[in-house]
Amino acid sequence: MDLRTLRDIPELSGKKVFIRVDFNVPLDDDGNVRDAKRIRHAIPTIKYLLENGASQIILASHLGRPKNNESHLMTNKVAERLSELIGEDVAKIDDWGENGLPEAKIVMLENIRFHPAEKSKDEAERDEFGKQIASLADIYVNEAFSNSHRAHASMTSVPKYIPGYAGLGVEDEVNKISRAIESPEHPVVAVIGGLKADKLTAIHNLMGIADKILIAGAVSYNLRKIQGYNVGSSKVDDEGMEEIADIVQEVINSDKVELPTDAVVADDFSESANIKTVSIDGIEDGWMALDIGPETVEKYIAEIKNAKTVLWFGPIGVFEMEPFAGGTKAIGQAIADSDSVSIVGGGDSASAVKKLGLEEKITLVSTGGGASLKMIEGKELPALIILKK
Ligand code: 3PG
Repeated sequence: MDLRTLRDIPELSGKKVFIRVDFNVPLDDDGNVRDAKRIRHAIPTIKYLLENGASQIILASHLGRPKNNESHLMTNKVAERLSELIGEDVAKIDDWGENGLPEAKIVMLENIRFHPAEKSKDEAERDEFGKQIASLADIYVNEAFSNSHRAHASMTSVPKYIPGYAGLGVEDEVNKISRAIESPEHPVVAVIGGLKADKLTAIHNLMGIADKILIAGAVSYNLRKIQGYNVGSSKVDDEGMEEIADIVQEVINSDKVELPTDAVVADDFSESANIKTVSIDGIEDGWMALDIGPETVEKYIAEIKNAKTVLWFGPIGVFEMEPFAGGTKAIGQAIADSDSVSIVGGGDSASAVKKLGLEEKITLVSTGGGASLKMIEGKELPALIILKK
């Protein structure tokens, strides 16, 4: 994908640059930043623009999925963390520049999703807000790859009014993913975990690319249930599955698809629950599957060892709880040990890789789950289309 990049900006000297970043980071119970990876990721772009003469950097991000502009989702904490990491003052304002901007080198706007027009279904409304944001700056930069599958005002409307460019992180991520999927070395093995039924649409699309799709996570027990197995009280999304019933059958019947043959089950969603490993036809009422079992681990690892390209999206089990982390650890380690091109995407998988200390051994740990998966599925991302040369 040939995007306009920072090197294509004809003149930076004295220009005000609006950067749409994705500082949608995990927060702890007190609203503090738990993992600053996405904030660090934007720093090279901010520095490049300042070092090349930009007079002001105006940053905007969403944080979470606010419903009532909850105060813990204000961007103050992410602005503070950026300031610490970049070693510059960051002036946080509580609106989107309607009342003017302070004369600071770096300004951070309020959570962009607090503004009702950001996610409006009405394009004209989004454009009106986009135009207002655009009036603050001379240049637009997208450094939010992980939100580029969203046609929101700050992603697709602002660059209608001022020239738009891809940030260094977007450029790098898009190039790496494009290279991996344009002519992937086979066998391509996809490992898909997670909870939501909409993963099935991705799995269905991946059937055209991957040689094997290893399904784990809640979605796999949902498929086992549809096949007629008792999955006890395992988390399932029956309604979501019904909406895509035709796809579900195709996935289940595909000989590319592998489903767990055993599971680690518990009688409560807790580390201190009673826990045992059972065959997939041995899940009893009142028990829930929270990880894949050793037989499935072994089978999946054999496929990964054989792969030349591995794509991993979504957690394998509830890895935050030690008794259910075995699958994630074993699969993560197998991917890291293989000499395949490996792409890991999605917040949970990325943080599992980090927790396991495997980041260095993965070709690309994508900042985005939804966005990178969409790209791998062969879909164009709306916020990148608008940045094409
Ligand atoms: C992400 O975390 O994947 C992006 O920030 C997008 O967030 P969203 O899924 O809430 O749109």
